[in-house]
Amino acid sequence: MTERWTPASWRQRPAKHIPNDYPDMEALARVEGELRRMPPLVFAGEARRLKSKLADVAAGKAFLLQGGDCAESFKEFSADNIRDTFRLILQMAVVLTFAGGKPVVKVARMAGQFAKPRSEPIETIDGVTLPSYRGDNINGMEFEPAARAPDPERLLRAYSQSASTLNLLRAFAGGGYADLHNIHRWTLGFVDGSPQGARYRELTDKISEALTFMGAIGVTPESHPDLHRVEVFTSHEALLLGFEEAMTRVDSTTGDWYDVSAHLLWIGERTRQLDGAHIEFMRGIRNPIGLKVGPTLEPEELIRLIDALNPEGEPGRLTLYGRFGADKIAARLPRLMEATRREGRSVVWAIDPMHGNTLKANNGYKTRPFDRILSEVRGFIEIAEAEGVHPGGVHLEMTGQNVTECLGGARALSEGDLGDRYHTHCDPRLNGEQALELAFLVAEKLKAERQAVGREAAE
Ligand code: TRP
Ligand code: MN
Repeated sequence: MTERWTPASWRQRPAKHIPNDYPDMEALARVEGELRRMPPLVFAGEARRLKSKLADVAAGKAFLLQGGDCAESFKEFSADNIRDTFRLILQMAVVLTFAGGKPVVKVARMAGQFAKPRSEPIETIDGVTLPSYRGDNINGMEFEPAARAPDPERLLRAYSQSASTLNLLRAFAGGGYADLHNIHRWTLGFVDGSPQGARYRELTDKISEALTFMGAIGVTPESHPDLHRVEVFTSHEALLLGFEEAMTRVDSTTGDWYDVSAHLLWIGERTRQLDGAHIEFMRGIRNPIGLKVGPTLEPEELIRLIDALNPEGEPGRLTLYGRFGADKIAARLPRLMEATRREGRSVVWAIDPMHGNTLKANNGYKTRPFDRILSEVRGFIEIAEAEGVHPGGVHLEMTGQNVTECLGGARALSEGDLGDRYHTHCDPRLNGEQALELAFLVAEKLKAERQAVGREAAE
């Protein structure tokens, strides 16, 4: 690990889940060369800003909300889709900020989340075997030989879709849409008539009243521009290292390397081998980074991974996302949290309650029971409190669309309902109503924590 790092040094290591069956490897190299000349999607200074906000999370002074599609796709790309997921992030952020009494760091799983590690490299249907679908920036979802062959041109299309997505996100975040005075307008149509919609309205009425009061005493969007805008950061799994390498540049201000394809990049559960390509690549970029932490990871190995990825112990550099499953979290998480606390490693501890709770419904749909998702989140907060660790955030697969992909929720979606609007290109996502319900649950927990701390201080 101490050898010299370059953006290409990962190429000397074993690399999992990176396709090497492009029909024309020279065409791939050509596209990577073209990407190298493309403008950055984000600036190094913005990545540093996110890092400092995540340092606040690590110190217990803020909360991380990260969410978006499991996989973005060319087909589901539209302004409405982007807006709907963005407004869902805003709604959840309002709920969490109000309850927790702390700033919420907003990170979209958008503008670059295309590539997917797959459990099986091939797929067989009716006796026909083809390579698995690996994400729209690699191959196509249609079950045809031509679609399933990796095509480097897809990387350019994904870059351009990411640029457009980010452009719109920046406009929504800074152009007035996210003004707190618009708080009532963010409700998604289908959520409006639901119990979550009513709960949200109750909350926004209180905030509106507070805003009117503040306006009367001179606190206005003109005097306080932060009322009028949010900062939203982007993130995706750094899986396709050829693409990430091409997007990695020296920052002219600091002379350090940054991957300018997103503010935050994370390493998946399947690619976190200590001697593997992904750890090698990620250790050298200065962005804030994440690491998925699953049920097989032992405390000693976690500490070694932390030391490889954040040898200087920089606060905000590393976020750990637990993803154990509701049935395993109680057995696995306490020892890991105990280890990071005992060894004095500054990390953000967050929870990904999606990936450990996936199952196949009787009718063949890949789904996730909402009550297990909630149960893992609840478990996470309770374990963190018991271990004296700040429950720093949530990482969710969700969409502003009214999909039927996860079972349960206030409308009690059943297996029979899954077929109605099952649109995901990969894993099942929370719909707006389910995501909001989850935000309320976390909010209650954070509020209880805040009040307990308040009582201790008063004693
Ligand atoms: N800028 C502040 C923040 O991000 C306040 C704010 C403005 C806000 N619009 C928002 C908070 C929408 C949550 C949601 O915290
Ligand atoms: Mn997923």
